[in-house]
This record gives sequence, structure tokens and C-alpha cells, in this order.
Amino acid sequence: MANVNAGVLGTGHAYPEGILTNADLEKMVDTSDEWITKRVGIKQRRKAAPGEYTSLFAVRAARQAIERARIDPSEIDLLLCATVTPDQILPSTGCLIQAELGANNAAAMDIVAACSGFLYGLTLADTMIRTGQSRCALVIGAEILTQYVDYTDRSTCVIFGDGAGAAILGPVEAERGILAARIKSDGRFAEQLYSPGGGTRVPPTAETIATGQHFFKMKGNELFKVAVRSMTEISRDVLEEAGVTADDVSLFIPHQANQRITDAVASKLGVDDARVYSNIAMHGNTSSASIPIALDECVEAGRIKPNDLVLLASFGGGATWGGVLLRW
Ligand code: ACO
Repeated sequence: MANVNAGVLGTGHAYPEGILTNADLEKMVDTSDEWITKRVGIKQRRKAAPGEYTSLFAVRAARQAIERARIDPSEIDLLLCATVTPDQILPSTGCLIQAELGANNAAAMDIVAACSGFLYGLTLADTMIRTGQSRCALVIGAEILTQYVDYTDRSTCVIFGDGAGAAILGPVEAERGILAARIKSDGRFAEQLYSPGGGTRVPPTAETIATGQHFFKMKGNELFKVAVRSMTEISRDVLEEAGVTADDVSLFIPHQANQRITDAVASKLGVDDARVYSNIAMHGNTSSASIPIALDECVEAGRIKPNDLVLLASFGGGATWGGVLLRW
């Protein structure tokens, strides 16, 4: 297919009803609303109830994106679900979502790239669309992180929340859509954010569960520096590839990891506060779901207009990072 880009044709998001506030956490661990607000920027996060699972919210977000893109699920030929909290090990959450949506003509799979999963998905969908291998891609970021959070560990339990976001992508004329996309990883940082138990290395047993080896462990202050550096560098890379500068960016939507990371990256790039979107106060860090939720909130609020230049950047466990620049 000659001279097409991949454009976003519709977006959606969904999250659980349950809300966990800083006041709730004050009763569970030695923390305070003041510390969380100042050091992370979070006031509340969504928390799934028992019986709620990842694909439940993924499907709701996807249905919204499908409706807004005015397509039929049978048109979807590629379905990528970014998640580190799948419904189950086998089959992929992507396949479970496919069945629920009736997207029976799609190739479905999961992407495990933590908080960068959605940008990994956009990058793969972009390549498939530009090469003509896909004409209609559904990319989802969906997580129930709170099931893997140790609510006795104050360094992680204040951060993570649940939710899902989705986007439908299809071919658009070459001046629009994804202008540049880049993804990177460095496995040497693996133990800065990881879940040691539950896989083949430390198979799940009553003992691994009792000792909480399936919970996320994080060296937050080490990750912080790598996150700021990597998100800034990859943002500069995609801007340069597209032949534009940070001054041209209409809206910067970073992964919502920590308000101080967002502020540091925006400041290094020279993007002023008015052009940065943040919802971390309301959602916390929802890993792969954070960028598509934020993107859909911006669309719903009318913050993105045709022709706007939108910069997305992420950093997550792995370590993984990514940057995507879109002409809306
Ligand atoms: N309440 C009160 N005090 C706390 C809390 C808390 N919830 N958590 C930590 N502290 C304390 C620590 O014990 C420490 O105390 P000490 O000085 O007496 O030892 C002090 O606060 C400072 O701890 P730091 O870990 O240095 O705090 P920091 O300012 O770095 O904030 C945080 C921690 C929020 C985790 C931050 O480092 C961060 O956001 N890191 C990046 C996270 C990230 O980007 N992760 C990757 C993406 S997420 C993904 O991939 C799923």
C-alpha cells in the first residue's frame, strides 16, 4: 500500500467503580495524603472489586473505540492487547477480548511491555498498516494492577491503579496519523520493577503466594532517573525523525507514572504546563492503560483538534520505553 500512515480513528476507556483514596491508604500503611500528593501527585486510584478481571474493562474500552470509529468488529484484522496482568496465562487476553467482541477476522495477541505496552502496540500496528498487512487494528492497554500490589508495602501500594484504554487505527493520508514511532528496551534493568513469583522460574505454590512473591517489587528511586532520561531521549528522537521541534507540539501525553517524572520530562523537552496532560491525581499509575485512557479523556474533552501534533512517551518495567508522534 503506497503512501499511507496509520491514524487513530476512535478511542475509548473504562475503569472499575471502586475508588481507593489516599485517606484509605493512610489506614493501611504508614503514609500520608501529603507525602503521596507531593512525591507522586496521586489523590485516588481505581481498584477492581473481587470478580472483576482485565478483559472486562478492555472490552468496554474497545467497544467505545469501535463505536466512535464507526466500524464493525468483523473489520478488525489485528488485535493487540498490552497487559502485564492478563486474565489467565493461556490463552492470551487478546484472544479472550476477540471472542467477546466478535472480532473473528483478527490476529489477536498480548504484548508484555509494562507501561510502554500501548506504545509498543501503536508502533507494531503502524508498521502493519503502512505495509498493507493490516487495514484495521485495535490496540488496547488494560490492567488490574491492584491484584499484584502488596498492601503492606508503602513504596508501591500508593502508586498503582486499574483501568483500560483502546484505540482503533486505520490507514489515513501520509501527512496525518503516526509520523514517527520508536520503541526500546534494556533488560539489564529487569529487577528494578518485577514480580519474582508465579512463572516457570518460581512456580506458584502455597508458599510463594504466602510470601507474596507474585507482588510487584520496585526500586522506585532508581527507576525514576532512568524514566526521565529515557522518555526525554525518545521524545527528542521522534520529534527529530518527523522534522519538528517541541515548540510545534500541541499536546504532550506522557505515561502517568509520577507527576514529578512528567514535570521533569516536560521541562527538559521545553513543553510548558499548558501543553501537558496529566490525570495521575485521579487514576494513579495504570501501566499500559495510562496513555490510552489519557488520550481518550483528551479527545472527549475536545483538547485535541484536527491537525494538532500529539506527542506520546512512556517508560515501564523491563525496562521498556517508547515515543509516538501523531498528527491528529
Ligand atoms: N509514604 C511515606 N513515605 C514513603 C512512602 C509512602 N508511600 N514510600 C516511600 N516512602 C519513604 C521511603 O521509605 C524513604 O524514607 P527514608 O528516607 O526514611 O528511607 C523516603 O520516603 C524516600 O523514598 P524514595 O523511594 O527515595 O522516594 P521517591 O521520592 O523516589 O518516591 C516513588 C518513590 C514514588 C516510587 C518514585 O521513586 C517513583 O515514582 N519512581 C518511578 C516509578 C516508575 O516510573 N516506575 C516505572 C513505571 S511503572 C510500570 O512499569 C508498571
